[in-house]
Amino acid sequence: MNKAKKLYLETFGCQMNVSDSEKIVTLMKGIGYQQTADPVEADLVLLNTCSIRATAEQRVYGHLGKFKSMKKQKPGLIIGVGGCVAQQEGERLLRKAPFVSLVFGTHNLHLLQKMVSGAEQGKQSVATDFLDDEKRFDLFPHAESEGGVSRFVTVMQGCDNFCAYCIVPHVRGREISRSADKVVEEVAALAAAGVTEVTLLGQNVNSYGFKEPGAPDFADLLRLVAQVEGIERLRFTTSHPKDISPRLIACFAEIPKLAPHIHLPAQSGSDAVLQGMNRGYTRVQYLEKVRALRDACPGIQFTGDMIVGFPGEDEACFEQTMELIEEVQYADLFSFIYSARPGTKAAGFPDEVRRAEKQARLERLQAAQKKITLARNESFVGGVQRVLVEGPSSTGDALFGRTGGNRATVMNGDPALAGRLVEVRITEGLQTLLKGEILDV
Ligand code: 5AD
Ligand code: SF4
Repeated sequence: MNKAKKLYLETFGCQMNVSDSEKIVTLMKGIGYQQTADPVEADLVLLNTCSIRATAEQRVYGHLGKFKSMKKQKPGLIIGVGGCVAQQEGERLLRKAPFVSLVFGTHNLHLLQKMVSGAEQGKQSVATDFLDDEKRFDLFPHAESEGGVSRFVTVMQGCDNFCAYCIVPHVRGREISRSADKVVEEVAALAAAGVTEVTLLGQNVNSYGFKEPGAPDFADLLRLVAQVEGIERLRFTTSHPKDISPRLIACFAEIPKLAPHIHLPAQSGSDAVLQGMNRGYTRVQYLEKVRALRDACPGIQFTGDMIVGFPGEDEACFEQTMELIEEVQYADLFSFIYSARPGTKAAGFPDEVRRAEKQARLERLQAAQKKITLARNESFVGGVQRVLVEGPSSTGDALFGRTGGNRATVMNGDPALAGRLVEVRITEGLQTLLKGEILDV
């Protein structure tokens, strides 16, 4: 009998890539590749790449260098690059890295089996055509329903917003929503496999269904998915503030399964910067959405993304970002130095903020947020949270789970509680997690 061929897959970037990687594993199984965590064993190396910032892209080239040397030792090794860098670079990637056998873009997973089989015969191939209709979702299988506690389900892909800094619309293509029936079907299959929590995933998830008048919108979709028996908790990411509708806000008040957390990137606290970014809302409008969400769902936790050093951001603009984080009191904030991406509108803007200044702003922002995060975590002490137990903690001697507000929580208890929602009294609020005791089972 033939020894199983081995796939080593590395995934960079966002949850959409993680989700695509699950599909890649399923597809490669179909042509005889078993996944391995050890690159030395691999017959096939696939990198699923990210190009959101220049640093992410550089990392891909760094890793490719490593596999180039491995291929010298093992000439039969097939190396493939997929995801956003592949989409952006296409043929150019083969010229820069001729030891690569296949380059597959973000809409080309359905071609992957053929491309790898071709590479086994020594053929190089590139596929980066966009496929802009709903068929895109049907051309590759869902991730296998292996169960687990919490799973992501893609409901839409692509983005039409063209924020001035962002490469996503260029590498992920136009917005396309998957039919509500298909989403519910996948969620039901996951529930049947024992999954307790699903996170509905899309680059701009709350503009779900906007392109099809009369079709369910995102609020409708949430209500449909919430009806699936066995699913106890529902989340979604990522939302655009301009598309937070009153109907969506009402969902937080009316759907008990909807977790009290929203990732709502503001990107900046300054109207001038927001305008330059083409975000489609002002600071006041953003804060109004935050207030309305808090009114509908007291205790809702906010997380966000922020960019510092966008072209035109002066000290006063940056101060407004500092004020915004104090006002919103994010549970957690992901913040980045602006990185000019080729082909985006902002890449043509004069970038006059000095690098050292950008770095100093990032550090100030992160230091302020660190205090907010700690204070928020401390504020949970003494209270009771509903925690979904995911499994053993990283140290192995306790359980790990998440509160409705998505705060990482560690507590003692029976590992058989994985997948269950339990009531936990919070005893400690640390910088990155809560500690607590399970009240009853
Ligand atoms: N430079 C820096 N940060 C960026 N992001 C997106 N594009 C850029 C860029 N060009 C950040 C945004 C987004 C998060 C996923 O990455 O904050 O919400
Ligand atoms: Fe990028 Fe803006 Fe689309 Fe988010 S909404 S993916 S930041 S263009």
